[in-house]
Amino acid sequence: MRSHFAKDLINLATGSKVKLAGWVNSHRDHGGVIFIDLRDKTGIIQLVIDPERSKNAHVLGSDIRDEFVIIIEGELRNRGTGLINPRIETGAIEIIVDNLIIESRSRPLPFTIGDKNVNEEIRLRYRYLDLRDSEAYKTFKLRSRVAIVARNLLDSLGFLEVETPVLTKSTPEGARDYLVPSRVHHGEFFALPQSPQIFKQLLMVGGFDRYFQIAKCFRDEDLRADRQPEFTQIDVEMSFCTQEDVMNVAEKLIEAIFKEAGHDVKAPFRRMKYRDAMEFYGSDKPDMRYDMKMVDVHDLFADSTNDGFKNIALDSKKNRIKALKVIGGDREFSRKVLKELEDFVMKFGAKGLGYFQMREDGIKGPLTKFMSEDALKILVERTELSVGDLLFIGAGDKKRVWDYMGRLRIEVAKRLNLIDQNKFEFLWVVDFPMFERDNDGNVGALHHPFTMPKSLDNVDDIEEIESVAYDIVLNGIEMGGGSIRIHRDDIQKRIFQLLNLTEQEIDEKFGFLVEAFTYGAPPHGGFAIGFDRLIMLLAKKDSIRDVIAFPKTQKAQCLLTSAPDRVAIDKLKELNIRVSERLK
Ligand code: AMO
Repeated sequence: MRSHFAKDLINLATGSKVKLAGWVNSHRDHGGVIFIDLRDKTGIIQLVIDPERSKNAHVLGSDIRDEFVIIIEGELRNRGTGLINPRIETGAIEIIVDNLIIESRSRPLPFTIGDKNVNEEIRLRYRYLDLRDSEAYKTFKLRSRVAIVARNLLDSLGFLEVETPVLTKSTPEGARDYLVPSRVHHGEFFALPQSPQIFKQLLMVGGFDRYFQIAKCFRDEDLRADRQPEFTQIDVEMSFCTQEDVMNVAEKLIEAIFKEAGHDVKAPFRRMKYRDAMEFYGSDKPDMRYDMKMVDVHDLFADSTNDGFKNIALDSKKNRIKALKVIGGDREFSRKVLKELEDFVMKFGAKGLGYFQMREDGIKGPLTKFMSEDALKILVERTELSVGDLLFIGAGDKKRVWDYMGRLRIEVAKRLNLIDQNKFEFLWVVDFPMFERDNDGNVGALHHPFTMPKSLDNVDDIEEIESVAYDIVLNGIEMGGGSIRIHRDDIQKRIFQLLNLTEQEIDEKFGFLVEAFTYGAPPHGGFAIGFDRLIMLLAKKDSIRDVIAFPKTQKAQCLLTSAPDRVAIDKLKELNIRVSERLK
Protein backbone atom coordinates (compact mmCIF):
# COMPACT_ATOMS: atom_id res chain seq x y z
CA MET A 1 0.00 0.00 0.00
CA ARG A 2 2.99 2.31 0.27
CA SER A 3 5.99 3.18 -1.91
CA HIS A 4 8.26 4.46 0.88
CA PHE A 5 8.67 4.87 4.62
CA ALA A 6 9.12 8.37 6.03
CA LYS A 7 12.83 7.97 6.56
CA ASP A 8 13.49 6.77 2.99
CA LEU A 9 12.24 10.09 1.64
CA ILE A 10 15.41 11.90 2.68
CA ASN A 11 17.24 10.31 -0.25
CA LEU A 12 14.63 11.07 -2.92
CA ALA A 13 14.79 13.84 -5.50
CA THR A 14 12.30 16.68 -5.41
CA GLY A 15 9.40 15.99 -7.73
CA SER A 16 9.36 12.24 -6.87
CA LYS A 17 5.89 10.74 -6.69
CA VAL A 18 5.29 8.78 -3.48
CA LYS A 19 2.58 6.82 -1.72
CA LEU A 20 2.73 6.89 2.08
CA ALA A 21 0.77 5.26 4.87
CA GLY A 22 0.61 5.81 8.62
CA TRP A 23 -0.91 7.69 11.54
CA VAL A 24 -1.67 11.36 11.91
CA ASN A 25 0.81 12.43 14.55
CA SER A 26 -0.53 16.01 14.57
CA HIS A 27 -2.44 18.30 12.26
CA ARG A 28 -3.04 22.03 11.87
CA ASP A 29 -5.27 24.01 9.60
CA HIS A 30 -3.53 27.21 8.50
CA GLY A 31 -6.35 29.13 6.88
CA GLY A 32 -7.00 26.87 3.96
CA VAL A 33 -3.78 24.89 3.79
CA ILE A 34 -3.74 21.83 6.08
CA PHE A 35 -0.49 20.53 7.52
CA ILE A 36 -0.26 16.95 8.77
CA ASP A 37 2.66 15.22 10.45
CA LEU A 38 2.38 11.65 9.22
CA ARG A 39 4.04 9.02 11.40
CA ASP A 40 5.21 5.52 10.54
CA LYS A 41 7.66 3.19 12.27
CA THR A 42 10.64 5.05 10.81
CA GLY A 43 9.73 8.63 11.67
CA ILE A 44 7.64 11.62 10.71
CA ILE A 45 7.06 13.47 7.44
CA GLN A 46 5.11 16.69 6.91
CA LEU A 47 2.19 16.54 4.46
CA VAL A 48 0.68 19.64 2.93
CA ILE A 49 -2.91 19.62 1.66
CA ASP A 50 -3.53 22.64 -0.53
CA PRO A 51 -7.11 23.11 -1.87
CA GLU A 52 -5.62 24.67 -5.00
CA ARG A 53 -3.86 21.37 -5.75
CA SER A 54 -6.47 18.82 -4.68
CA LYS A 55 -9.97 19.85 -3.72
CA ASN A 56 -11.01 16.29 -2.75
CA ALA A 57 -8.06 15.74 -0.47
CA HIS A 58 -8.74 19.06 1.18
CA VAL A 59 -12.40 18.24 1.87
CA LEU A 60 -11.40 14.93 3.48
CA GLY A 61 -8.42 16.56 5.18
CA SER A 62 -10.52 19.04 7.09
CA ASP A 63 -12.12 16.03 8.84
CA ILE A 64 -8.83 14.60 10.03
CA ARG A 65 -7.93 14.23 13.72
CA ASP A 66 -4.82 12.93 15.49
CA GLU A 67 -4.16 9.19 15.20
CA PHE A 68 -6.38 8.68 12.15
CA VAL A 69 -4.86 6.12 9.78
CA ILE A 70 -4.41 7.56 6.30
CA ILE A 71 -2.86 6.70 2.97
CA ILE A 72 -1.78 9.48 0.65
CA GLU A 73 -0.28 9.98 -2.77
CA GLY A 74 1.75 13.08 -3.44
CA GLU A 75 4.92 14.73 -4.62
CA LEU A 76 8.09 15.44 -2.68
CA ARG A 77 9.35 19.01 -2.50
CA ASN A 78 11.82 21.02 -0.46
CA ARG A 79 10.52 23.23 2.29
CA GLY A 80 11.18 26.89 1.81
CA THR A 81 14.22 28.43 3.47
CA GLY A 82 13.45 29.34 7.06
CA LEU A 83 10.78 26.62 7.20
CA ILE A 84 13.16 23.74 7.92
CA ASN A 85 12.37 21.75 11.08
CA PRO A 86 15.67 20.62 12.63
CA ARG A 87 13.89 18.40 15.18
CA ILE A 88 12.91 15.72 12.66
CA GLU A 89 15.09 13.85 10.21
CA THR A 90 12.89 14.75 7.25
CA GLY A 91 12.72 18.39 8.38
CA ALA A 92 13.99 19.81 5.08
CA ILE A 93 11.30 18.23 2.90
CA GLU A 94 7.52 17.78 2.69
CA ILE A 95 4.93 16.03 0.57
CA ILE A 96 2.29 17.98 -1.30
CA VAL A 97 -0.78 15.74 -1.30
CA ASP A 98 -2.72 14.81 -4.45
CA ASN A 99 -4.84 12.01 -3.06
CA LEU A 100 -5.98 11.12 0.45
CA ILE A 101 -7.76 8.07 1.87
CA ILE A 102 -8.86 7.89 5.50
CA GLU A 103 -8.46 4.19 6.32
CA SER A 104 -9.70 4.43 9.87
CA ARG A 105 -10.62 7.00 12.48
CA SER A 106 -9.48 7.30 16.06
CA ARG A 107 -11.30 8.45 19.15
CA PRO A 108 -9.37 11.01 21.22
CA LEU A 109 -6.58 9.08 22.96
CA PRO A 110 -6.63 8.44 26.72
CA PHE A 111 -3.11 9.90 26.89
CA THR A 112 -0.54 11.57 24.69
CA ILE A 113 1.77 9.09 23.04
CA GLY A 114 5.28 9.22 24.45
CA ASP A 115 4.25 11.11 27.59
CA LYS A 116 6.19 9.28 30.32
CA ASN A 117 4.42 11.13 33.12
CA VAL A 118 1.24 9.23 32.44
CA ASN A 119 0.35 6.68 35.08
CA GLU A 120 1.80 3.29 34.08
CA GLU A 121 -1.50 1.51 34.71
CA ILE A 122 -3.15 3.58 32.02
CA ARG A 123 -0.29 2.98 29.64
CA LEU A 124 -0.51 -0.78 30.25
CA ARG A 125 -4.29 -0.79 29.89
CA TYR A 126 -3.78 0.72 26.41
CA ARG A 127 -0.42 -0.90 25.76
CA TYR A 128 -0.94 -0.86 21.96
CA LEU A 129 -1.05 2.94 22.11
CA ASP A 130 1.97 3.08 24.38
CA LEU A 131 3.85 0.97 21.81
CA ARG A 132 3.22 3.60 19.10
CA ASP A 133 5.95 5.69 20.73
CA SER A 134 9.07 5.63 18.55
CA GLU A 135 11.17 4.98 21.64
CA ALA A 136 9.29 1.69 22.21
CA TYR A 137 9.82 0.67 18.59
CA LYS A 138 13.55 1.27 18.98
CA THR A 139 13.66 -0.95 22.07
CA PHE A 140 11.83 -3.82 20.37
CA LYS A 141 13.96 -3.51 17.28
CA LEU A 142 17.00 -3.97 19.51
CA ARG A 143 15.34 -6.94 21.19
CA SER A 144 14.66 -8.54 17.83
CA ARG A 145 18.22 -7.90 16.59
CA VAL A 146 19.74 -9.35 19.74
CA ALA A 147 17.69 -12.55 19.41
CA ILE A 148 18.87 -12.94 15.83
CA VAL A 149 22.52 -12.31 16.72
CA ALA A 150 22.29 -14.81 19.59
CA ARG A 151 20.77 -17.44 17.32
CA ASN A 152 23.39 -16.91 14.62
CA LEU A 153 26.31 -16.97 17.02
CA LEU A 154 25.13 -20.14 18.80
CA ASP A 155 24.36 -21.76 15.45
CA SER A 156 27.89 -20.98 14.29
CA LEU A 157 29.24 -22.70 17.41
CA GLY A 158 27.29 -25.88 16.65
CA PHE A 159 24.35 -25.41 19.01
CA LEU A 160 20.98 -26.80 18.00
CA GLU A 161 17.81 -24.85 18.82
CA VAL A 162 15.29 -27.19 20.40
CA GLU A 163 11.90 -26.35 21.90
CA THR A 164 10.99 -27.91 25.22
CA PRO A 165 7.49 -28.31 26.69
CA VAL A 166 5.51 -25.57 28.38
CA LEU A 167 2.96 -27.97 29.84
CA THR A 168 5.22 -29.97 32.08
CA LYS A 169 6.17 -30.93 35.60
CA SER A 170 7.69 -28.84 38.35
CA THR A 171 11.32 -27.80 37.64
CA PRO A 172 13.96 -27.29 40.31
CA GLU A 173 14.44 -23.48 40.39
CA GLY A 174 12.58 -23.17 43.64
CA ALA A 175 10.04 -20.41 42.99
CA ARG A 176 6.31 -21.13 43.18
CA ASP A 177 4.89 -22.85 40.07
CA TYR A 178 2.08 -21.73 37.82
CA LEU A 179 -0.25 -24.70 37.57
CA VAL A 180 -2.54 -25.75 34.74
CA PRO A 181 -5.33 -28.21 35.51
CA SER A 182 -5.71 -31.23 33.29
CA ARG A 183 -9.21 -31.88 31.97
CA VAL A 184 -8.46 -35.46 31.00
CA HIS A 185 -6.81 -36.43 34.28
CA HIS A 186 -9.04 -35.16 37.02
CA GLY A 187 -7.31 -33.61 39.96
CA GLU A 188 -3.94 -33.54 38.18
CA PHE A 189 -1.98 -30.48 37.12
CA PHE A 190 0.74 -29.48 34.76
CA ALA A 191 3.32 -27.00 36.03
CA LEU A 192 4.63 -24.33 33.69
CA PRO A 193 8.45 -24.56 33.52
CA GLN A 194 10.48 -22.16 35.65
CA SER A 195 13.21 -22.89 33.10
CA PRO A 196 13.95 -25.67 30.60
CA GLN A 197 16.55 -27.00 33.08
CA ILE A 198 15.53 -30.66 33.22
CA PHE A 199 14.75 -30.98 29.54
CA LYS A 200 18.04 -29.48 28.45
CA GLN A 201 19.86 -31.98 30.62
CA LEU A 202 17.80 -34.77 29.06
CA LEU A 203 18.81 -33.48 25.62
CA MET A 204 22.42 -33.99 26.68
CA VAL A 205 21.61 -37.58 27.70
CA GLY A 206 19.96 -37.76 24.26
CA GLY A 207 23.33 -37.03 22.70
CA PHE A 208 22.52 -33.61 21.17
CA ASP A 209 25.82 -32.29 22.56
CA ARG A 210 24.98 -28.58 22.23
CA TYR A 211 21.50 -27.12 22.78
CA PHE A 212 20.05 -23.64 23.00
CA GLN A 213 16.61 -22.08 23.12
CA ILE A 214 15.15 -18.63 23.51
CA ALA A 215 12.76 -19.97 26.07
CA LYS A 216 9.73 -18.71 27.96
CA CYS A 217 9.93 -19.31 31.72
CA PHE A 218 7.24 -18.88 34.36
CA ARG A 219 7.72 -18.16 38.04
CA ASP A 220 5.10 -17.17 40.57
CA GLU A 221 7.29 -14.99 42.78
CA ASP A 222 7.26 -11.51 44.27
CA LEU A 223 7.79 -9.07 41.44
CA ARG A 224 10.30 -6.24 41.27
CA ALA A 225 11.62 -3.80 38.69
CA ASP A 226 13.71 -6.59 37.12
CA ARG A 227 11.30 -9.51 37.55
CA GLN A 228 8.27 -10.66 35.63
CA PRO A 229 6.15 -13.78 36.20
CA GLU A 230 6.64 -14.69 32.56
CA PHE A 231 10.06 -13.96 31.12
CA THR A 232 12.52 -15.18 28.52
CA GLN A 233 15.93 -16.80 28.79
CA ILE A 234 18.66 -17.45 26.28
CA ASP A 235 19.15 -20.97 27.55
CA VAL A 236 22.26 -23.00 26.73
CA GLU A 237 23.55 -26.48 27.59
CA MET A 238 26.60 -28.38 26.35
CA SER A 239 28.27 -31.76 26.85
CA PHE A 240 31.86 -32.79 27.53
CA CYS A 241 32.69 -29.35 28.82
CA THR A 242 34.42 -27.68 31.72
CA GLN A 243 33.35 -24.49 33.48
CA GLU A 244 35.89 -22.66 31.29
CA ASP A 245 34.25 -23.94 28.09
CA VAL A 246 30.81 -22.80 29.24
CA MET A 247 32.06 -19.38 30.31
CA ASN A 248 33.82 -19.01 27.00
CA VAL A 249 30.58 -19.57 25.07
CA ALA A 250 28.73 -17.12 27.34
CA GLU A 251 31.42 -14.48 26.83
CA LYS A 252 31.39 -14.92 23.03
CA LEU A 253 27.62 -14.56 23.10
CA ILE A 254 27.75 -11.41 25.19
CA GLU A 255 30.48 -9.87 23.03
CA ALA A 256 28.44 -10.49 19.87
CA ILE A 257 25.25 -9.11 21.41
CA PHE A 258 26.88 -5.96 22.75
CA LYS A 259 28.64 -5.40 19.44
CA GLU A 260 25.27 -5.48 17.69
CA ALA A 261 24.07 -2.82 20.12
CA GLY A 262 27.13 -0.68 19.35
CA HIS A 263 29.18 -1.42 22.47
CA ASP A 264 32.64 -2.89 22.43
CA VAL A 265 32.97 -5.16 25.45
CA LYS A 266 36.02 -7.33 25.88
CA ALA A 267 36.13 -10.79 27.41
CA PRO A 268 37.44 -12.47 29.51
CA PHE A 269 35.42 -10.78 32.23
CA ARG A 270 36.61 -10.31 35.77
CA ARG A 271 35.95 -13.11 38.23
CA MET A 272 35.27 -13.10 41.93
CA LYS A 273 34.57 -15.90 44.38
CA TYR A 274 31.10 -15.78 45.92
CA ARG A 275 32.62 -15.53 49.40
CA ASP A 276 34.74 -12.51 48.41
CA ALA A 277 31.74 -10.83 46.79
CA MET A 278 29.83 -11.16 50.06
CA GLU A 279 32.73 -10.12 52.30
CA PHE A 280 33.82 -7.13 50.20
CA TYR A 281 30.57 -5.95 48.66
CA GLY A 282 27.83 -7.60 50.75
CA SER A 283 26.16 -8.95 47.63
CA ASP A 284 26.41 -11.87 45.23
CA LYS A 285 25.89 -9.38 42.41
CA PRO A 286 28.16 -6.44 43.15
CA ASP A 287 28.09 -3.40 40.91
CA MET A 288 31.69 -2.99 39.76
CA ARG A 289 31.24 0.43 38.16
CA TYR A 290 32.55 1.84 41.44
CA ASP A 291 34.71 0.29 44.12
CA MET A 292 34.08 0.96 47.84
CA LYS A 293 35.17 -2.32 49.37
CA MET A 294 34.13 -3.21 52.88
CA VAL A 295 36.91 -3.92 55.36
CA ASP A 296 36.71 -6.44 58.19
CA VAL A 297 37.27 -4.79 61.56
CA HIS A 298 35.72 -7.18 64.07
CA ASP A 299 39.03 -7.83 65.83
CA LEU A 300 39.32 -4.13 66.69
CA PHE A 301 36.11 -4.34 68.70
CA ALA A 302 37.12 -7.42 70.70
CA ASP A 303 38.24 -5.23 73.61
CA SER A 304 35.56 -2.61 73.17
CA THR A 305 33.98 -1.24 76.34
CA ASN A 306 30.62 -1.48 74.58
CA ASP A 307 29.23 -4.94 75.36
CA GLY A 308 27.05 -5.04 72.26
CA PHE A 309 30.02 -4.63 69.93
CA LYS A 310 32.27 -6.79 72.05
CA ASN A 311 29.88 -9.74 72.02
CA ILE A 312 29.38 -9.46 68.28
CA ALA A 313 33.16 -9.35 67.80
CA LEU A 314 33.72 -12.47 69.87
CA ASP A 315 31.67 -14.76 67.60
CA SER A 316 33.43 -14.14 64.33
CA LYS A 317 31.99 -17.25 62.68
CA LYS A 318 28.41 -16.12 63.05
CA ASN A 319 28.91 -12.36 63.01
CA ARG A 320 30.70 -9.62 61.15
CA ILE A 321 31.79 -6.08 61.91
CA LYS A 322 32.37 -4.30 58.62
CA ALA A 323 33.68 -0.87 57.80
CA LEU A 324 32.64 0.99 54.65
CA LYS A 325 34.73 4.04 53.80
CA VAL A 326 33.16 6.98 51.99
CA ILE A 327 35.92 9.18 50.62
CA GLY A 328 35.05 12.77 51.44
CA GLY A 329 31.89 11.55 53.15
CA ASP A 330 32.41 13.65 56.26
CA ARG A 331 32.38 16.75 54.11
CA GLU A 332 29.51 15.58 51.90
CA PHE A 333 27.01 14.16 54.38
CA SER A 334 25.14 16.36 56.85
CA ARG A 335 23.72 15.03 60.12
CA LYS A 336 20.36 14.83 58.41
CA VAL A 337 21.78 12.61 55.68
CA LEU A 338 23.49 10.38 58.24
CA LYS A 339 20.13 9.93 59.94
CA GLU A 340 18.49 9.12 56.61
CA LEU A 341 21.16 6.51 55.90
CA GLU A 342 20.66 5.00 59.34
CA ASP A 343 16.91 4.78 58.72
CA PHE A 344 17.71 3.23 55.36
CA VAL A 345 19.81 0.36 56.79
CA MET A 346 17.34 -0.17 59.62
CA LYS A 347 14.74 -1.09 57.03
CA PHE A 348 16.99 -4.04 56.23
CA GLY A 349 17.46 -5.28 59.77
CA ALA A 350 20.27 -3.06 61.13
CA LYS A 351 19.88 -2.01 64.76
CA GLY A 352 21.64 1.26 63.99
CA LEU A 353 24.50 2.59 61.92
CA GLY A 354 27.80 3.44 63.55
CA TYR A 355 30.29 5.82 61.97
CA PHE A 356 33.65 7.52 62.40
CA GLN A 357 34.68 10.90 60.98
CA MET A 358 38.27 11.70 60.06
CA ARG A 359 39.03 15.27 61.08
CA GLU A 360 42.19 17.44 61.14
CA ASP A 361 42.51 16.71 64.83
CA GLY A 362 41.99 12.98 64.60
CA ILE A 363 39.26 10.37 64.41
CA LYS A 364 35.88 11.36 65.86
CA GLY A 365 32.43 9.86 66.13
CA PRO A 366 30.03 8.29 68.62
CA LEU A 367 31.93 4.99 68.77
CA THR A 368 35.39 6.37 69.63
CA LYS A 369 34.70 6.40 73.34
CA PHE A 370 34.34 2.62 73.38
CA MET A 371 37.72 1.95 71.77
CA SER A 372 41.34 2.12 72.85
CA GLU A 373 43.79 4.54 71.24
CA ASP A 374 45.61 1.57 69.70
CA ALA A 375 42.47 0.10 68.18
CA LEU A 376 41.56 3.47 66.68
CA LYS A 377 45.04 3.85 65.24
CA ILE A 378 44.85 0.45 63.53
CA LEU A 379 41.36 1.27 62.30
CA VAL A 380 42.64 4.43 60.59
CA GLU A 381 45.57 2.56 59.04
CA ARG A 382 43.61 -0.47 57.91
CA THR A 383 40.88 1.55 56.24
CA GLU A 384 43.34 4.19 54.95
CA LEU A 385 41.23 7.01 56.33
CA SER A 386 42.11 10.55 55.25
CA VAL A 387 40.83 13.85 56.55
CA GLY A 388 37.28 14.41 55.30
CA ASP A 389 36.44 10.71 55.03
CA LEU A 390 33.57 8.97 56.72
CA LEU A 391 33.64 5.35 57.89
CA PHE A 392 30.36 3.50 58.37
CA ILE A 393 30.31 0.52 60.69
CA GLY A 394 27.85 -2.36 60.46
CA ALA A 395 27.83 -5.03 63.17
CA GLY A 396 25.75 -8.14 63.80
CA ASP A 397 24.75 -11.41 62.18
CA LYS A 398 26.92 -11.81 59.07
CA LYS A 399 24.13 -12.34 56.52
CA ARG A 400 22.29 -9.32 57.81
CA VAL A 401 25.43 -7.13 57.90
CA TRP A 402 26.42 -8.16 54.37
CA ASP A 403 22.95 -7.36 53.16
CA TYR A 404 22.43 -3.92 54.66
CA MET A 405 26.02 -2.78 54.23
CA GLY A 406 25.88 -3.93 50.60
CA ARG A 407 22.73 -1.88 50.14
CA LEU A 408 24.31 1.06 51.93
CA ARG A 409 27.23 0.92 49.48
CA ILE A 410 24.80 1.25 46.57
CA GLU A 411 22.78 3.99 48.26
CA VAL A 412 25.93 6.03 49.00
CA ALA A 413 27.18 5.58 45.43
CA LYS A 414 23.85 6.86 44.11
CA ARG A 415 23.79 9.85 46.43
CA LEU A 416 27.37 10.81 45.58
CA ASN A 417 26.89 10.24 41.86
CA LEU A 418 29.71 7.68 41.76
CA ILE A 419 28.03 5.56 39.09
CA ASP A 420 29.14 6.05 35.50
CA GLN A 421 25.92 5.32 33.58
CA ASN A 422 27.84 4.73 30.35
CA LYS A 423 29.89 1.84 31.68
CA PHE A 424 29.19 -1.85 31.28
CA GLU A 425 31.05 -3.73 34.03
CA PHE A 426 30.75 -7.48 33.77
CA LEU A 427 31.67 -9.82 36.57
CA TRP A 428 31.61 -13.59 36.93
CA VAL A 429 30.74 -14.58 40.47
CA VAL A 430 32.06 -18.13 40.89
CA ASP A 431 32.21 -20.93 43.47
CA PHE A 432 28.73 -20.42 44.87
CA PRO A 433 27.89 -22.46 47.96
CA MET A 434 26.16 -25.73 47.16
CA PHE A 435 23.64 -25.39 49.97
CA GLU A 436 21.93 -22.70 51.95
CA ARG A 437 20.06 -22.86 55.19
CA ASP A 438 16.79 -20.97 55.59
CA ASN A 439 15.81 -19.17 58.80
CA ASP A 440 14.34 -22.39 60.19
CA GLY A 441 17.63 -24.24 59.61
CA ASN A 442 16.33 -26.28 56.67
CA VAL A 443 18.94 -27.08 54.04
CA GLY A 444 18.18 -26.33 50.39
CA ALA A 445 20.19 -26.27 47.16
CA LEU A 446 21.32 -22.71 46.44
CA HIS A 447 21.34 -23.19 42.66
CA HIS A 448 19.56 -26.51 42.14
CA PRO A 449 20.21 -30.08 43.28
CA PHE A 450 21.85 -31.11 39.99
CA THR A 451 24.74 -28.70 40.45
CA MET A 452 28.16 -30.34 40.69
CA PRO A 453 29.83 -29.84 44.08
CA LYS A 454 33.53 -28.92 43.97
CA SER A 455 34.22 -31.52 46.61
CA LEU A 456 32.18 -33.37 49.19
CA ASP A 457 35.08 -33.76 51.63
CA ASN A 458 34.00 -31.10 54.07
CA VAL A 459 30.52 -32.20 55.05
CA ASP A 460 30.90 -31.14 58.71
CA ASP A 461 29.66 -27.72 57.76
CA ILE A 462 27.30 -28.11 54.89
CA GLU A 463 27.35 -24.37 54.16
CA GLU A 464 31.09 -24.55 53.42
CA ILE A 465 30.63 -26.88 50.43
CA GLU A 466 31.24 -25.03 47.17
CA SER A 467 29.72 -25.85 43.81
CA VAL A 468 30.77 -25.42 40.21
CA ALA A 469 28.18 -22.71 39.75
CA TYR A 470 28.63 -19.24 38.34
CA ASP A 471 26.59 -16.10 37.79
CA ILE A 472 27.18 -13.39 35.25
CA VAL A 473 26.59 -9.98 36.76
CA LEU A 474 26.31 -6.73 34.83
CA ASN A 475 26.27 -3.37 36.62
CA GLY A 476 24.95 -4.92 39.83
CA ILE A 477 22.21 -6.96 38.18
CA GLU A 478 22.24 -10.75 37.91
CA MET A 479 22.04 -11.22 34.19
CA GLY A 480 22.53 -14.95 34.04
CA GLY A 481 23.77 -18.03 35.76
CA GLY A 482 24.59 -21.65 35.32
CA SER A 483 26.60 -24.58 36.51
CA ILE A 484 28.30 -27.80 35.68
CA ARG A 485 25.81 -30.57 36.44
CA ILE A 486 26.18 -33.83 38.27
CA HIS A 487 26.31 -36.71 35.79
CA ARG A 488 27.43 -39.36 38.26
CA ASP A 489 24.88 -41.41 40.11
CA ASP A 490 26.83 -41.70 43.37
CA ILE A 491 27.35 -37.95 43.71
CA GLN A 492 23.72 -37.23 42.90
CA LYS A 493 22.55 -39.69 45.55
CA ARG A 494 24.84 -38.08 48.12
CA ILE A 495 23.47 -34.60 47.35
CA PHE A 496 19.89 -35.79 47.66
CA GLN A 497 20.84 -37.32 51.02
CA LEU A 498 22.39 -34.06 52.23
CA LEU A 499 19.20 -32.28 51.16
CA ASN A 500 17.28 -34.75 53.34
CA LEU A 501 15.18 -35.87 50.40
CA THR A 502 13.60 -39.30 50.83
CA GLU A 503 13.65 -41.88 48.02
CA GLN A 504 9.97 -41.22 47.53
CA GLU A 505 10.43 -37.44 47.25
CA ILE A 506 13.29 -37.88 44.79
CA ASP A 507 11.24 -40.29 42.78
CA GLU A 508 8.18 -38.04 42.68
CA LYS A 509 10.08 -34.87 41.85
CA PHE A 510 12.92 -35.95 39.59
CA GLY A 511 12.63 -39.71 39.21
CA PHE A 512 12.65 -39.53 35.42
CA LEU A 513 15.88 -37.49 35.39
CA VAL A 514 17.63 -39.77 37.86
CA GLU A 515 16.52 -42.73 35.77
CA ALA A 516 17.82 -41.10 32.58
CA PHE A 517 21.22 -40.68 34.23
CA THR A 518 21.43 -44.44 34.74
CA TYR A 519 21.62 -44.88 30.94
CA GLY A 520 24.91 -43.10 30.28
CA ALA A 521 25.00 -39.36 30.98
CA PRO A 522 27.80 -37.25 29.50
CA PRO A 523 29.56 -34.64 31.64
CA HIS A 524 27.58 -31.48 30.92
CA GLY A 525 26.82 -27.95 32.01
CA GLY A 526 25.32 -24.72 30.80
CA PHE A 527 23.87 -21.36 31.61
CA ALA A 528 20.89 -19.11 31.01
CA ILE A 529 20.89 -15.39 30.43
CA GLY A 530 17.79 -13.41 31.37
CA PHE A 531 16.91 -12.05 27.93
CA ASP A 532 14.58 -9.33 29.22
CA ARG A 533 17.11 -8.15 31.79
CA LEU A 534 19.79 -8.09 29.14
CA ILE A 535 17.67 -5.88 26.88
CA MET A 536 16.73 -3.70 29.84
CA LEU A 537 20.41 -3.06 30.52
CA LEU A 538 21.30 -2.57 26.86
CA ALA A 539 18.42 -0.17 26.24
CA LYS A 540 19.14 1.58 29.57
CA LYS A 541 15.61 1.14 30.87
CA ASP A 542 14.76 1.18 34.57
CA SER A 543 11.99 -1.36 34.33
CA ILE A 544 11.81 -4.79 32.74
CA ARG A 545 8.24 -3.89 31.71
CA ASP A 546 9.65 -1.45 29.15
CA VAL A 547 11.27 -4.27 27.18
CA ILE A 548 8.37 -6.76 27.21
CA ALA A 549 5.66 -6.06 24.64
CA PHE A 550 2.75 -7.04 26.88
CA PRO A 551 4.05 -7.13 30.44
CA LYS A 552 2.28 -7.90 33.68
CA THR A 553 1.97 -5.41 36.51
CA GLN A 554 3.78 -5.72 39.84
CA LYS A 555 0.68 -7.61 40.95
CA ALA A 556 1.12 -10.14 38.11
CA GLN A 557 -1.90 -8.95 36.13
CA CYS A 558 -2.32 -8.08 32.49
CA LEU A 559 -4.35 -4.86 32.52
CA LEU A 560 -4.96 -5.00 28.79
CA THR A 561 -6.75 -8.34 28.74
CA SER A 562 -7.77 -8.43 32.43
CA ALA A 563 -5.94 -11.67 33.01
CA PRO A 564 -6.10 -13.58 35.26
CA ASP A 565 -9.85 -13.70 35.22
CA ARG A 566 -12.74 -15.75 36.56
CA VAL A 567 -13.97 -18.56 34.35
CA ALA A 568 -17.47 -19.89 33.81
CA ILE A 569 -18.72 -22.50 36.25
CA ASP A 570 -19.19 -25.11 33.51
CA LYS A 571 -15.55 -24.77 32.52
CA LEU A 572 -14.51 -25.36 36.11
CA LYS A 573 -16.84 -28.35 36.32
CA GLU A 574 -15.21 -29.84 33.28
CA LEU A 575 -11.89 -29.56 35.09
CA ASN A 576 -13.40 -30.94 38.27
CA ILE A 577 -12.41 -27.80 40.12
CA ARG A 578 -14.47 -25.94 42.68
CA VAL A 579 -13.43 -22.50 43.89
CA SER A 580 -14.11 -22.47 47.60
CA GLU A 581 -14.38 -18.73 48.08
CA ARG A 582 -14.46 -15.74 45.78
CA LEU A 583 -12.03 -13.31 47.28
CA LYS A 584 -12.60 -10.50 44.79
P1 AMO B 1 18.30 -18.75 37.09
O1 AMO B 1 17.15 -19.13 37.95
O2 AMO B 1 19.47 -18.11 37.72
O3 AMO B 1 18.89 -20.04 36.37
O4 AMO B 1 17.78 -17.84 35.91
C1 AMO B 1 18.65 -17.35 34.90
C2 AMO B 1 18.40 -15.90 34.63
O5 AMO B 1 17.05 -15.66 34.30
C3 AMO B 1 16.68 -14.34 34.71
N1 AMO B 1 15.49 -14.40 35.58
C4 AMO B 1 14.43 -13.56 35.47
N2 AMO B 1 14.19 -12.54 34.64
C5 AMO B 1 13.01 -11.90 34.76
N3 AMO B 1 12.07 -12.22 35.66
C6 AMO B 1 12.25 -13.25 36.52
N4 AMO B 1 11.28 -13.58 37.37
C7 AMO B 1 13.48 -13.97 36.46
N5 AMO B 1 14.02 -15.02 37.13
C8 AMO B 1 15.23 -15.25 36.59
C9 AMO B 1 17.86 -13.76 35.45
C10 AMO B 1 18.65 -15.00 35.82
O6 AMO B 1 20.01 -14.73 35.97
N6 AMO B 1 18.08 -23.19 34.76
C11 AMO B 1 18.97 -22.22 35.37
C12 AMO B 1 20.12 -21.86 34.44
C13 AMO B 1 21.18 -22.93 34.35
O7 AMO B 1 21.63 -23.45 35.39
O8 AMO B 1 21.60 -23.26 33.22
C14 AMO B 1 18.17 -20.96 35.70
O9 AMO B 1 17.03 -20.79 35.33
O10 AMO B 1 18.59 -12.94 34.57
